[in-house]
Amino acid sequence: MFPQLDLRLETVAKQIQADCHADVGSDHGNLLVALLKNGQIQSAIAVENKRQPFENSQKALIGLDGEARFADGLKGLEVGEADSLSICGMGGGSIVAILQADPDRIPPKVVLQPNRDQVLVRRWAMKNGFHLVEEQIAWGHWPYTVLTFRSALGIDPAYGEEDLEAALMFGPLNIRRSDPSFIEYLSKERRYLRTLNRLSDSTRRRLELIEAVLCKRSPDATRHSRSDPGFIT
Ligand SMILES: C[S@@+](CC[C@H](N)C(=O)[O-])C[C@H]1O[C@@H](n2cnc3c(N)ncnc32)[C@H](O)[C@@H]1O
Repeated sequence: MFPQLDLRLETVAKQIQADCHADVGSDHGNLLVALLKNGQIQSAIAVENKRQPFENSQKALIGLDGEARFADGLKGLEVGEADSLSICGMGGGSIVAILQADPDRIPPKVVLQPNRDQVLVRRWAMKNGFHLVEEQIAWGHWPYTVLTFRSALGIDPAYGEEDLEAALMFGPLNIRRSDPSFIEYLSKERRYLRTLNRLSDSTRRRLELIEAVLCKRSPDATRHSRSDPGFIT
């Protein structure tokens, strides 16, 4: 379905269906090309703030209903111009900085793929009227988180039942679903963190939250692994 996309961008692409879609930090332009060729979007806006990636996007969109713009983040869009937006392959801090710089230009649907610090992206959404409607982990070279938000009023119901701190760190939908690959990922990280002699306060807290999530999902496995560090959960 997406021959030119890796699993990470394929996971992002599956979340997008729009009339006009904008991709900020489009670089190679592969995401927009795949969406246009697949008929998932009618028109595309690629935004880049660096010359070579901008030229890459321009070239990729030749012959398609897409336009590359040389601009800083959402300044490349008019208010209300795009129906949806993606920002992928950057740290959570950079993604949030782009969103916060021009809040009026954020379309009602947003797909974000932070390479790290997903908690910053989740917090931004909570505080700025975007509800989490889907979250996935693309098990590529690294576990890449893909978060889909929609503009909405009120408290985000996605965070209702889970411990907020754990949900912001690992995702309320991931925790609720507790897919085997997600549980294995947390179990592996727990095993690794338990081998460390010294933990920073934030890493110790992360380990505590991992323990809490695993314990809730599989209390027996957690009890055994505490008494036997070699136990594979
Ligand atoms: C690591 S690449 C990711 C490319 C692509 N989105 C992907 O996921 O494969 C990040 C791209 O974002 C661009 N970028 C970073 N900050 C930007 C900003 N404020 N406005 C527009 N583009 C930006 C960079 O120039 C770079 O091409």
